[in-house]
Amino acid sequence: MILPIYLYGQPVLRKVAEDITPDYPELNTLIENMFETMYNAQGIGLAAPQIGLPIRLVVIDLDPLSEDYPEYKEFSAVYINAHIVETSDDTDSSEEGCLSLPGIHEKVVRPTRIRVQYLDEDFNEHDEWVEGYLARVMQHEFDHLEGKVFSDRISMLRRQMNKNRLNNLAKGNVSCGYKVKRVIR
Ligand code: NI
Repeated sequence: MILPIYLYGQPVLRKVAEDITPDYPELNTLIENMFETMYNAQGIGLAAPQIGLPIRLVVIDLDPLSEDYPEYKEFSAVYINAHIVETSDDTDSSEEGCLSLPGIHEKVVRPTRIRVQYLDEDFNEHDEWVEGYLARVMQHEFDHLEGKVFSDRISMLRRQMNKNRLNNLAKGNVSCGYKVKRVIR
């Protein structure tokens, strides 16, 4: 089932999301729906707050990038209760977009490598260092779990350049190719 994606301006995108337990109701269906919603919107990552749930659940599928990054052929993953516990000092900069901020694309500087702790969909524990494009996508998605969006991480100047677009998003003045939950005032 395709779920509406909550747009910038929705309060749930500003909440710190909570860990969940294996008895979370209908978790498998929720995960399936999140993948379907992400594919329908042609995204490569989706965090639960973006569908209105303040819980620490993220889905990622990097297969669409596999032409440029063959290592991600058929790569998809579920991250539950994910936390970034360490980051590298070295950073890189790359353009990002977000299904909750349609029409905005900006370069974001992030640590090159991160150490993450999370549970997979079978609730097995993982503690690993991640690098490359996956590290970037994970940081973008895990930011959603901390109530942050990527426009928080761009320069004041770039934010100023996008001010009208962000204001329009926050007012619900946006047209979009997928189902969204816009702010109604
Ligand atoms: Ni996003």
